[in-house]
Amino acid sequence: MNREDFPMLLQDIIYFDNGATTLKPKCVIDKTVEYYEKYGANAHRGDYDISYKASEAYENTRRLVRDFIHARFLEEIIFTAGATEGLNLITRGFFEKLLEPGDEVLLTKSEHASNVLPWFSLAKSNGIQVSYIPLDSNYYVTLDNVKKAITPHTKVISLAYITNVIGDIRPIKEIVEFAHQHNIFVVVDAAQSIGHIKTDVQDLDVDFLVFSAHKMCGPTGVGVLYGKKELLENVTPLILGGGMNESFDNEAEVYLKDLPTRLEPGTPNVAGVIAFGSAIEYLNKIGLAEISFYEKNLRKYLVEKLIAIPHLDILNLESDSGIVSFNVEGIFSQDVAYFLNKYNICVRAGNHCAKILKKEVGVNNTIRISLYFYNTYEEIDALVELLSDKDKILKEML
Ligand code: ALA
Repeated sequence: MNREDFPMLLQDIIYFDNGATTLKPKCVIDKTVEYYEKYGANAHRGDYDISYKASEAYENTRRLVRDFIHARFLEEIIFTAGATEGLNLITRGFFEKLLEPGDEVLLTKSEHASNVLPWFSLAKSNGIQVSYIPLDSNYYVTLDNVKKAITPHTKVISLAYITNVIGDIRPIKEIVEFAHQHNIFVVVDAAQSIGHIKTDVQDLDVDFLVFSAHKMCGPTGVGVLYGKKELLENVTPLILGGGMNESFDNEAEVYLKDLPTRLEPGTPNVAGVIAFGSAIEYLNKIGLAEISFYEKNLRKYLVEKLIAIPHLDILNLESDSGIVSFNVEGIFSQDVAYFLNKYNICVRAGNHCAKILKKEVGVNNTIRISLYFYNTYEEIDALVELLSDKDKILKEML
């Protein structure tokens, strides 16, 4: 779908690494250039027209994000550098004050590093306990397993909406409902889901949710931290400086601005945020339902073709997302990626930053295909033809 919108696709490449980052449509690239060429001033700081224009475009993206995830208030949308920054901001800025030694945070072993390392760090400095919700035989999280995993000490459950190797879509709404009955906060890493399935933060009732613009056709270096307003009011900024303070004096008396500005210190990524707005408008025009539907069919086709290749081991046959992880028997995953690269096919190989998953599944590395709506059935055919010939891979891989 919509391939003509993506200048990168004019090159002779097959891009299957959308879990790492998606390609950018022309409208997003044009918006970046428009900002730098026509109103490239700082936002929220200048009393002149081009700064007003930059500020208005920046705040327009906040409105678009609010509507895209169906948040209640504009103040609930904090621009960050990406999902990683958002998770670090709430672990240190919110949970560090709240959690006491012995309190427990529940994760799973299939989380990305960004949703593990900030909690490990808090465990070291504050004596909290990090534990894991057991995964089922498909490496999924089930509500039953969440129920079994919580203890009287559990204070937080922090999960990806879609994981980046297994690609399972978690039952977040059900988990949140159960967690809230037990006064447990739920944090959601929506990096892999936001551009693929509809997110409604009010319906899910999540406490915090983070994502990155670059995984949804937007620019790199921009992300969003969503939090319920009453919770964000209690997030302590980790970075202090210009823009976020109302005033300070030589007695070190500091007054901070209200949300959301208080949590957006320094000059923000003005160009990135403005271009991110175009990405949201673009996705809205296509429609997330349409994207999900197309991707689901494409995945089905891919998996059917891969299953037919006897020398492939597929890790996640059942998942609903466009992420398929597998290995070619007896060949190191990165060697397969090098081989595919010779035919201009871009895939990711390795452990994909989910480094505690490998023990759980007994597989150190995989080749990962992560689809998006501009991928085609013909591209899958080209991939499958190459993967089918193991002798060719062995001969050409190095
Ligand atoms: N987190 C990104 C991925 O899974 C980079 O590829």
